[in-house]
Amino acid sequence: MTQPVDLPAWQALNQHYQSTKHLTLREMFAGDGTRFEQFQLTAAGVFLDYSKNHVSAETMSLLTALARESHVPQGIAAMFAGERVNPTEQRPALHTALRNRSGKAVIVDGNDVMPAINKVLDRLAVFSNKVRNGEWCGYDGSMITDVVNIGIGGSDLGPLMASEALAAFAHERLNIHFVSNVDGSHLASTIKNLDPKTTLFIIASKTFTTQETLTNAGSAKQWFLDSGASEVDVAKHFVALSTNTERVTAFGIDAENMFEFWDWVGGRYSLWSAIGLPIILSIGMERFEQLLEGAHAMDEHFRTAPLDQNLPVTLALLTVWYNNFHGAHSHLIAPYDQYLHRFPAYLQQLTMESNGKSVHLDGSEVSCNTGPIVWGEPGTNGQHAYFQLVHQGTHIIPTDFILPMESLNPVGQHHELLMANCFAQSEALMMGKNSEELTLEMREAGVTVDEIDRLTGHRTFAGNRPSNTIMVHRLDAHALGALIALYEHKVFVEAAIWNINPFDQWGVELGKQLASAIQKELSSAKPVTNHDSSTNGLINRALKMRNLHA
Ligand code: F6P
Repeated sequence: MTQPVDLPAWQALNQHYQSTKHLTLREMFAGDGTRFEQFQLTAAGVFLDYSKNHVSAETMSLLTALARESHVPQGIAAMFAGERVNPTEQRPALHTALRNRSGKAVIVDGNDVMPAINKVLDRLAVFSNKVRNGEWCGYDGSMITDVVNIGIGGSDLGPLMASEALAAFAHERLNIHFVSNVDGSHLASTIKNLDPKTTLFIIASKTFTTQETLTNAGSAKQWFLDSGASEVDVAKHFVALSTNTERVTAFGIDAENMFEFWDWVGGRYSLWSAIGLPIILSIGMERFEQLLEGAHAMDEHFRTAPLDQNLPVTLALLTVWYNNFHGAHSHLIAPYDQYLHRFPAYLQQLTMESNGKSVHLDGSEVSCNTGPIVWGEPGTNGQHAYFQLVHQGTHIIPTDFILPMESLNPVGQHHELLMANCFAQSEALMMGKNSEELTLEMREAGVTVDEIDRLTGHRTFAGNRPSNTIMVHRLDAHALGALIALYEHKVFVEAAIWNINPFDQWGVELGKQLASAIQKELSSAKPVTNHDSSTNGLINRALKMRNLHA
């Protein structure tokens, strides 16, 4: 196998980096007044300005050549065609079929998967309508007021993020809650003020084997039964979203109350499937379909646009450029929209569980860095927390600013202030403030020469820090769908370039296995001795602190 680093385009990019690394963004903008026009793209209602990056037309053409040499177009075609693009689990990855609004068939193993997808969507529509309009009642005839989704990872983060993002369109009567952590406090604090008679639990688990989810689901069921309800009442208050009918029925949820999906839906790509039920309950089926349509529009763009005009491809190439040539290790997501407050957390799982890999598709060790650390918080809050490091720290942190043009809650000048801050941050990151500008500014403010000397180093901003700005008209379901699909495909393209599998997650298994073993030892009457000295010590210390042995 040719290593990515041995591809001609990779080598050419190495040389290009060496010969251009001295150029600053300031100089690039000063030398070319058309950068904004040159380095922008629009697709599916999403606008991207990527001019504030360390790229020229030549850089982009070399990066595009890298995508071609990495067979990105073939990879895109294979994914949409339902080929087994997840070779370690021998599965296709067909989240695009879940939002396929084209009416065309998607064939897996000789069968069209669209009728099954549409059937589940129809069932979800019927069920959610009943809950929303009050027809689906609790066991004593009361309307449902609270919905608690119990799930973790992809069975939590996607629906949680999207329900929060679209909270402006939420149903008035239904409060949607999410319980993920096995820490009992999460469940306890969520159900504390709920009425079992008006609460609907959604147990969301692709495998229905996940320890945290089953533990929370078991305790929720116990809470429900302890309140005076009987086993037959469970049917009105517990539904499941899963691929595993056997386990769901074994848990005590009737298959009638299960909404299925399929093993070719990856956990972190599952919000478009039955896992989206909390979103549907909150915003209604019509709006959920708009979410699917927004994603489908981005899918169509991704599938058909030439590489150099392709929004997800462009974002991925920029990440590769910084990650593998500029030595950046992290990527900041800065949504300037409070409704997107869980978007960075959602993207953490999407990108870090997908591209946190150290071997190529053929199992050989990688010879280049793969997925960067993704993190963030909404603006403007981040400005008053970690932006100091982004501006003046020693790390280069490429940043995505995400900003809707219209507020869903227009209040006074709030939105103009929010937008101004967003644009100001990317400008400040790029332009910085040099010592001459600073000296002039301080002189004009009457600062003494001694003070100027003392403070100049501290108050200088090097600038030259790259960012993208992504804008949508307003954060509605269509725009959110397009935004999520944009990042899903970005992750896919990065993986294709690093030649890794973005659809498995073996790295989470070891911890799960060890936790099962240790859980049994936590009720041991004797000191534990079968681990390393630190782990033994921690377990024994815990046993002692819990008075389980001397
Ligand atoms: O953390 C590993 C993982 O398998 C994720 O990929 C997945 O989203 C999550 O656990 C939950 O899995 P499940 O939906 O099967 O409960």
